[in-house]
Order: sequence, then structure tokens, then C-alpha cells
Amino acid sequence: MSTTLDEMTVRTRATTSAELASGRESRETVGDVTSANPRMVCRHVDVFYGSTQAIKDVSLDIGKNEVVSMIGPSGCGKSTFLRCLNRMNDTIDGCRVTGSITLDGLDIYDKGLDPVPLRAQVGMVFQKPNPFPKSIYENVAYGPRILGLTNSKAELDDIIEGSLRKAGLWNEVKDRLDKPGTGLSGGQQQRLCIARTIAVSPEVILMDEPCSALDPIATAIIEELIDELRSNYSIAIVTHSMQQAARVSQRTAYFHLGDLIEVGETNQIFTNPKHKLTEDYITGRFG
Ligand SMILES: Nc1ncnc2c1ncn2[C@@H]1O[C@H](COP(=O)(O)OP(=O)(O)OP(=O)(O)O)[C@@H](O)[C@H]1O
Ligand SMILES: [Mg+2]
Repeated sequence: MSTTLDEMTVRTRATTSAELASGRESRETVGDVTSANPRMVCRHVDVFYGSTQAIKDVSLDIGKNEVVSMIGPSGCGKSTFLRCLNRMNDTIDGCRVTGSITLDGLDIYDKGLDPVPLRAQVGMVFQKPNPFPKSIYENVAYGPRILGLTNSKAELDDIIEGSLRKAGLWNEVKDRLDKPGTGLSGGQQQRLCIARTIAVSPEVILMDEPCSALDPIATAIIEELIDELRSNYSIAIVTHSMQQAARVSQRTAYFHLGDLIEVGETNQIFTNPKHKLTEDYITGRFG
């Protein structure tokens, strides 16, 4: 195995606001940003925090049954871009998103679109597992309840069991559904958060460093799960572990200072990057 794929977590020099605000033109992306069977299509996306531009003219598709990983140095805009995909940036004061993002052809930034159901369709799993201070059952039931997805307790029970099974957690929790979600281990809590996301039947799942707080065993379980989830969902995952990107994703996008530098098949990005900046990053030379 090449050294570039060693289990190294690359947190190189953080991007500074001054660099991002330098007013530099965006860099053209190398590689094919399109997907044969796209669910989400992002075109010419810019994101500003006040007057600072954090994402510069980024275009990228997220395809059906595909895991796309987003990599790049700290501060390059990975989380910012991910949050564009379900309008989570709307919740940040002073954050402005321009360009176009569609889900199955529908503009998710349409003025008439309610972001609450959108965030169920495009669900998000965060870096730190964040179960609600409620029972395991209630954590998963929360979304279906507020979205009015079920008519009976029996239907809700089915959703809870199905979601926990898909998240690979059912056997570990089926006898303690009334116990607090916060009482689970970190890896179990992250799978509970994935079950909570699945419970509202999303189309796309966004994951922002979902394994960075987990040990290697819990990480392996989540990675296997990501691969299984791919048969039903489209997934975009931010990771600092290049080996994780190589293991779980079919396409990889490399970000740098707010630009999307290169996109390609994961194998190509890690074995034969076309852009010098991508090569520098994956060989650990950046910074
Ligand atoms: N709420 C915010 N207000 C102002 N600036 C922000 C905000 N969130 C992020 N930024 C800035 O936008 C840039 C991109 O940040 P972002 O969090 O998207 O990077 P990242 O690639 O996810 O980094 P990391 O790998 O450290 O998580 C950084 O310069 C950051 O300081
Ligand atoms: Mg981030």
C-alpha cells in the first residue's frame, strides 16, 4: 500500500480569513464535477460570511447510490459547502449563499421552499454524536412525529425498528428502548443519530467528520454502515482521514482555500491526482 493511504489524519495549516478574503479569482476545477445519475446538482455556488468569501464558484453533483467524500485542509470550506446542501447555513447570521443547488431538479433555495422538511430529505450527521436528552425510542421517533409521518403507534414502532436495524443498532438496544440515548457508547450514539436521520426517509445524507470522535472499531462499523446505506441513499461525507475517504467513497472532491480544486473517482484522486495541490495534500506536503 502506498504511504499516501496510511491511516494519517491530515490537519495541516488552517486557512486564514485573510487568505480567503484576498479577492483572488476562483480556480477552475480539474476533473468531472458531474455524476451520471445526479440527485443533487450544485452550480457556481459562492458562500460569504459577511464580506469574507468561504466558497468560490463551486460546482459538484452528488449522484444516486453514491458516496462523495470531501477532503482538504482545515478551514478550506468543507463544512460550509456541506451545509449549503440542506440550507443549514441559513441558521448562521451573516452567511449568504449564491448560485444554484437542486435536489431532483427542484431549487432548494426557492423562496417558497420550507427548509424544515428539506432538512429531513437531506439529513445531517454531525462530528460529535448529539442524541437528544430523551429515550432511544424518542430520539428516533422525534422526526417522524414532527413531520406527521405516521398515523398509529404500530406504524411508528415499525419505523423505529426499521431505522435502528438499518443503522445496525437494533440488536444492541432493542431491550432498552426506553433508556436515555445519552447512555449509549459514542459509537452507538453516532449510529443512533444515523437512525434518527434515516427515520424520516431522507434522499441524501450529509456527514461531517462522523467518525472523528470514535475509536477504530466504532469507525469500522460506521464505515460498513455507510457502504450499506449507499444502496438506498446518496451520501456526502467530510473526512480528514484519507484512508476513510478511500474506503467509503466512489468519488472524492478536494477543496483548498474555498476552491474545489479537483474531483474524480476516489481511486484516481489518491493514486493519480491531476492537480499539483491535490498531490501535495495527499502526499502530506501541504502546509
Ligand atoms: N459561522 C462562521 N462565521 C464566520 N466565518 C466562518 C463561519 N464558519 C466558518 N467560517 C470560516 O469559513 C472558512 C471555512 O470554514 P469551514 O468550517 O467550512 O472549513 P472546514 O474545511 O470545514 O474546516 P475543518 O476541517 O477545520 O472543519 C474558514 O475560514 C472559517 O473561519
Ligand atoms: Mg469542518
